[in-house]
Amino acid sequence: MMITLLSPMQTVCLAQQLADRVYQGDCIALSGDLGAGKSTFARAFLKALARDESLEVPSPSFALVQPYDTPKGPVFHYDLWRLSGPEGLYELNWDEACEAIMVVEWPDRAEDLLPQEALHVHLTYGEKEEERHLTMSGWPESRLMGLSV
Ligand SMILES: Nc1ncnc2c1ncn2[C@@H]1O[C@H](COP(=O)(O)OP(=O)(O)O)[C@@H](O)[C@H]1O
Ligand SMILES: [Mg+2]
Repeated sequence: MMITLLSPMQTVCLAQQLADRVYQGDCIALSGDLGAGKSTFARAFLKALARDESLEVPSPSFALVQPYDTPKGPVFHYDLWRLSGPEGLYELNWDEACEAIMVVEWPDRAEDLLPQEALHVHLTYGEKEEERHLTMSGWPESRLMGLSV
């Protein structure tokens, strides 16, 4: 499924809708080039899950993981850009996170350890400055039905 996003606000809007559809055990894998909007998406997704628009969402690019407690249970935000190998994940509460809700930037770094049932959200640049194309795969269509910005 592909959606065209015409502004950061539309990316935020879609992330908020997805936050309404995730539960413990779900994984959102966010991929795309630098500046494509992964962190913008993750920030909006986490704020929506926390039901707190003023929630601080630090980039986990150095710590690699940032945990949150939300009304939907524990949520783990990963940025695996600096992960040297998937075995490093075991020190980062990966097993616990797989039972929780997780949002993972640079998911390819997790290799085989990424949950099989993850929703893959891929962002690419569009023609205009604020245009992005967002592709989703890995979930049954029924879970994505009705998403729009
Ligand atoms: N439609 C859009 N969705 C998300 N970000 C957008 C969009 N249009 C422009 N931008 C800008 O692109 C940048 C995306 O940055 P960021 O979310 O940190 O990307 P990434 O984490 O993929 O490197 C931000 O400066 C944001 O304002
Ligand atoms: Mg980022």
